[in-house]
Amino acid sequence: MEKEEGASSTHVLVLPFPAQGHMNPLFQFSNRLVSKGLKVTLATTIFIAKTMKSHPGSLIVDPISDGFDDGGWAVAEDMNIYKERFEAVGSRTLAELVEKYSHDCPVKCLIYDSHIPWALDVAKKLGIVGASFFTQSCAVDLIYYNVSRGLLSTPVQGPTVTIPGLPLLEVNDLPSFVYYALGSYATHLSSVLSQFSNFEKADWLLVNTFDKLEDEVVQWMSKKWRIKTIGPTVPSMYLDKRMEGNTDYGINLFHLDTDPFVKWLNTKETSSVVYVSFGSLAELGEEQMEELAWGLKNSNSYFLWVVRASEETKLPSKFVEETSEKGMVVTWCPQLEVLAHRAVGCFMTHCGWNSTLEALSLGVPMVAMPQWTDQTTNGKFVVDIWEVGLRARVDEKGIVRREDIELCIKEVMEGDKGKEIKRNVKKWKELAKEAVDEGGSSDKNIEDFIAGLVCD
Ligand code: UDX
Repeated sequence: MEKEEGASSTHVLVLPFPAQGHMNPLFQFSNRLVSKGLKVTLATTIFIAKTMKSHPGSLIVDPISDGFDDGGWAVAEDMNIYKERFEAVGSRTLAELVEKYSHDCPVKCLIYDSHIPWALDVAKKLGIVGASFFTQSCAVDLIYYNVSRGLLSTPVQGPTVTIPGLPLLEVNDLPSFVYYALGSYATHLSSVLSQFSNFEKADWLLVNTFDKLEDEVVQWMSKKWRIKTIGPTVPSMYLDKRMEGNTDYGINLFHLDTDPFVKWLNTKETSSVVYVSFGSLAELGEEQMEELAWGLKNSNSYFLWVVRASEETKLPSKFVEETSEKGMVVTWCPQLEVLAHRAVGCFMTHCGWNSTLEALSLGVPMVAMPQWTDQTTNGKFVVDIWEVGLRARVDEKGIVRREDIELCIKEVMEGDKGKEIKRNVKKWKELAKEAVDEGGSSDKNIEDFIAGLVCD
């Protein structure tokens, strides 16, 4: 990878929103900038810095206070209260951090998570470049944009929705905050819409996607805004091959010991294991958990299932003991390493944007079981647009039944539809790699971004 001349003296500060699904892409993008010769400082919150269990290599980490140093957003009453305090305290502590470097190595650019829009005001006040980093898909960003500008009103009237730049969507393909837009979802909605409060004033709009993946919507958005696709942020060493034994997976906010997973996977045949995870936030109801457990068992496949510690009590009693021959239930795992392992043949996923990009980039077919937020829209694209997975169907009670789980897994692992899905996902994997390889669309965009900073 070529290093831009003058890059080493260009200092970039990166501010992620303090949640796993936001930390990972911004951390991975930071590493990419480091590999291109930039000096990068990751500004996490104090609470996250205390929680981080693995160290992010050579990247500098310098924490700021968000006003919740002892618990982060989880201890705030709701997301809007968290965000208000983060803005009040963070505007000051972020400015102090930039000032701290002003003599030795002044910060030239602030790359901030689009969910922290006030960071742009800090950048403007201090006279540095502001780049908004969107961690979700262009499709989801465009839907939220339409809502923020009153072009799509909530609650949305069905059964379908037409949004310029996007395929025809059914109302329940929309992000759940848009679809329901009531109670706590209304609070979440106003929080995600804040991404668009000032984004037109940002110097750069970086999105964790790649051109070919969201061809139509990227083209549509590019006519209006200077967006730069820079994804997938999945580290290139994972894209090069499906491998064993690599432990450089990124930031983990949960306890992690990689050895047992890898050892277990190493004993399994190629493409024989179903990997199951619902990310860092989604909570399943007890009934859903039970259906999932027996669906997995009945599929008769090997499975590696991530059940976060906070969810463990919902597992059916004796399930772990009764299935120990076939399955491994863990509270967290190095997901990139697992998805890159040759033994994994299917990913039963909640369709978080990172999980979706990771599976697609590593060529792993999916069973989509979206839960909330942007996952419903991602699930639509996984199944109907990219055709890299099957959708597990919910019944009238909103539950995916064990029979359907078993059926979807068997179809993806062994069925005719599964063969087609495997061909498709292989194609997307190659296109993802092409985008980030030297000279690819995302790589060129990153080079342009760096050149802009260096020449500035
Ligand atoms: C949240 C939202 O739910 C998601 O839809 C949105 O796009 C980003 O914010 P999360 O639910 O955590 O994220 O899902 P996801 O986006 O998939 O991110 C989870 C990250 O944690 C992934 O990078 C994944 O590799 C990692 N992970 C997950 C692990 O490393 N180990 C695990 O056991 C599970």
